Parts: sequence; structure tokens; C-alpha cells
Amino acid sequence: MAEADIGLIGLAVMGQNLVLNMNDHGYTVAVFNRTVSKVDEFLEGPARGTRVIGTHSLEEFIQKLKRPRRIMLMVKAGDAVDSFIQQCLPYLEPGDIIIDGGNSLFTDTNRRCRALKEKGIAFIGTGISGGEEGARHGPSIMPGGNPQAWPHVKDIFQSISAKVDGEPCCDWVGEDGAGHYVKMVHNGIEYGDMQLISEAYFLLKHALGLKQHELQVVFAKWNEGDLDSYLIEITSKIFEVNDEDGSPLLDKILDVAGQKGTGKWTVINALDLGMPLTLIGEAVFARCLSSLKDERVAASALLKGPDAKFTGNREEFTHAIRQALYSSKIISYAQGFMLMKQAAADYKWNLNYGAIALMWRGGCIIRSQFLGKIKEAFNHNPDLKNLLLDSYFLQELQQRQQGWRQVVAKSAELGIPAPCFSTALAFYDGYRTAQLPANLLQAQRDFFGAHTYERIDQPRGQFFHTDWSGTGGKVSAGSYNA
Ligand code: ATR
Repeated sequence: MAEADIGLIGLAVMGQNLVLNMNDHGYTVAVFNRTVSKVDEFLEGPARGTRVIGTHSLEEFIQKLKRPRRIMLMVKAGDAVDSFIQQCLPYLEPGDIIIDGGNSLFTDTNRRCRALKEKGIAFIGTGISGGEEGARHGPSIMPGGNPQAWPHVKDIFQSISAKVDGEPCCDWVGEDGAGHYVKMVHNGIEYGDMQLISEAYFLLKHALGLKQHELQVVFAKWNEGDLDSYLIEITSKIFEVNDEDGSPLLDKILDVAGQKGTGKWTVINALDLGMPLTLIGEAVFARCLSSLKDERVAASALLKGPDAKFTGNREEFTHAIRQALYSSKIISYAQGFMLMKQAAADYKWNLNYGAIALMWRGGCIIRSQFLGKIKEAFNHNPDLKNLLLDSYFLQELQQRQQGWRQVVAKSAELGIPAPCFSTALAFYDGYRTAQLPANLLQAQRDFFGAHTYERIDQPRGQFFHTDWSGTGGKVSAGSYNA
């Protein structure tokens, strides 16, 4: 009998917790998994006593679904998604809905959305963030794809999502792969936030020599103010944990960062769209550098830095690090929203930036009070060109930049790497500079490759070439890159 409101395939951690969350909100969920034994394990374990319906074949699974059928895939991104779509298709009819809740690349979602539309199947690609805990008790959900499907899943998604001040952290993002795109940018921003916090920790530890319990106090205090966020909160908790021998566990963890690729995807996309996503780029590269552990250990014995030690007021410097962290965070989010604006223009999506800030405000890993400020900025002016130009953020940067500059200068003086603090400041200074040295770049390009240049005393779009050395011709190059 068709009795399930929705079906979910893929009973790994995220899938199981989403099913239990939907069940808690009154929905009847049918489940299936490639390794069928996991269905029974789930029913006998975490789903015991719930209304969840276990099924042991795809046919049985689909028979259990009310029409239009809603099938949510929580399987490994890539081939597994295509494989299940193909396997489901013979049992589906026009109007049915397939939702991919995995970490799929947005271009794959574009492709699936269009291919399924031709078959009359409405496809949604949705980002889901918040990890296991979020999936169970309220994640941030970022759905995009075929808009015809949205009214059929809206109630389920908004009821299981996180809420902030009663508002769900889930709203329609846009067409095609827009949902997965926004999730990808979310993950990139997460890389940036984590790296910024790590740089603050490193300076507190190595410039000021703070001990574990002192670090815990600093981060707990920061979490009470404008830096209040999930990542700062868990950082302060990390400093509370000792290893079995009573020493800080953190000090025993190998300094080699892993990555699953969504940060890299964000940066690759930024390069494709020509957007200066410098902070996330630097955060991804910081992880790459961390992974060169053996080389770094060997180099540490050979490449000497300064002998300088910190002198000055420690409390003031701690405060300056906080300013650097907050200012750099503003830059990172401003860059992330710049990227999404460019993507909306290039991919013809109608993105609602305030709604995106609200989706990230709760439930997900980057949730923070700060995102409330971004939401306010876009509420105030939905067409805001750049977050840095919003009156709140503009003032914050003005007030905090002295501390931020002090931290970047001091880190250079002491030889302590702070790549994201530095790149953020370089971006800020570049963005607020009306006249950059790109005139020289253009002259060089024209000199060696006759690539032409525009002039400040002529209208934009007119191109000029100079025979710089007196030996070149008058012909400009349009068709090759030297
Ligand atoms: P985890 O999230 O634990 O790392 P995963 O390998 O990403 O696990 O797999 C998540 C889900 O995708 C599981 O339901 C998995 O099915 P199994 O339990 O049978 O492994 C499913 N999955 C992974 N690869 C798949 C594939 N090629 N085809 C179908 N389902 C697949």
C-alpha cells in the first residue's frame, strides 16, 4: 500500500538521521539501501518503534510511496546518484520527484535536472549542512532545481530544518544546481572560517605563549560577543579536552589537514568566474601546505625566520587578534557573496541573498550571530552591490582595521604564518584602491604581446597599441596569448 510521505535511499549517518528527524515531525518515511541488510539493522536499531517503513527492493520501496512520489537520495556523490536515478526511472511516472541531498557538484545537478525534466521527473539538488547532529535535530537545507517540485517538498523540508527566531533555515534557492552551488560556497566559507580561527589560535599560542586553559578562556569569551558562532564554540571546547596522560589532546594531533574537495571546487569555480575569492583560496592552500609535513619538518631546520619575540601589551594584542578575526571574516563572506552574485548573473539564477544568509544562520557548521548581520544588510538593501559597502560592515572595518593591521604586521615580524589574515587585508586594501598597478601589467602585456590597453583619457572599450621598443609593428594581437 502506498502510505509513505517520502522515501529515502542511503542509510549512512546523514540519511538515517534525516529519516528519524522526518519521523519526529509526523512524516511516514520508506527507506532503502544498496546493502539491504542495513535496512533491517536500522529498523532494529535507531528506528525501532518509529513509523519508518523498511523495504528490501527498489520496486517494493517505490510501491510504498504516495503520489507524486518523493524520493530522496542520500548516497555518495557521483556515480551512485546516477545509478539510483537510472534504477528508479522505470518505476516512476511524470510528476514524480527525485531529490539528491548529497554533496553533489552543482554541474552534475544541472545535468540531472535538465535530463529528468525531459522525462517529466522534477529533480531537486539540495545542500544539507549540520552534520549528524544537524540532520537529526534541524539542519540547514538549501534546495534548488526544478521549481515545480518545491511546493511538494517545502513543508517537509521546512519542518525538519533548523529554525532561527521561528524562521526555517530552508528556502528555495534557485533553478538547476543553485542549491548545491550555494552549499558548495557554504563549505568554502567554512574552510575560511576554520583557517581564520586556526590562525588566531596559532598567534595566541606562539606570539603570546598562551596555555591551553588560557586559550579556552579567550575563545569562550569571544563566543559571548559578536564572534558568537558554532565554530568558535567548539574551538573553546576542544581546548578543554585532555589526552589519557592528562596533557592537551590538541597538542597530540598531527598538523596535516584533510579535505574532501568542496573548498577546492569553490575556488576552481571562482577562478572560472574570474572572482577574487582570495581568502577561501588561501584557506585551501593552507591545507595543502599543511599536508607537506615531511618537507616542512626538513625545511624548519634550514630556513631561518626572524629571532624576534613579542613585546608589547598582551591584552591589547589579544584584542587585536579578535579584531583581525572579525575583519577577515567580513572579507571572506563579502567575497563569498560576490562569487554568488557573479554565479547568479552567469548561470541566470535569481538568488535571494538575504534568504541564503538566513539558511546559514542556523543548523549548519558556519552558523553564527554574524550571519544575522548579513541578513539585515540584505533586508535593508536587497540589491546591495557588496557587503563591504553596507553601513554596518563598513563601520566595523573602519573601527577594527587598526588591530587587524597590527596583527598582520606583527605576524610578519615574528615569522608566524597568518595567510588568511594577510590575504584578507590585501583584498581590503585592493578593493578600496581606485587606482591599482594594473596599468603596468597592461603596458607589459602590450609590450611583449601587443595585447593592447585602454586609456584613462578615452572611453572604455577603445583599445590602443604602442610600439614600445621601436622595433615592433603596429599590429595588435587578439588571437594569441604570449
Ligand atoms: P559514508 O557516508 O559512511 O562515508 P558512503 O560510502 O559515502 O558512506 O555511502 C553513503 C551511502 O551511499 C550508503 O548508503 C552507501 O550504500 P552502502 O551502504 O551499500 O555502502 C551508498 N553508496 C555508496 N556508493 C554507492 C554506489 N556506488 N551505489 C549505490 N549506493 C552507494
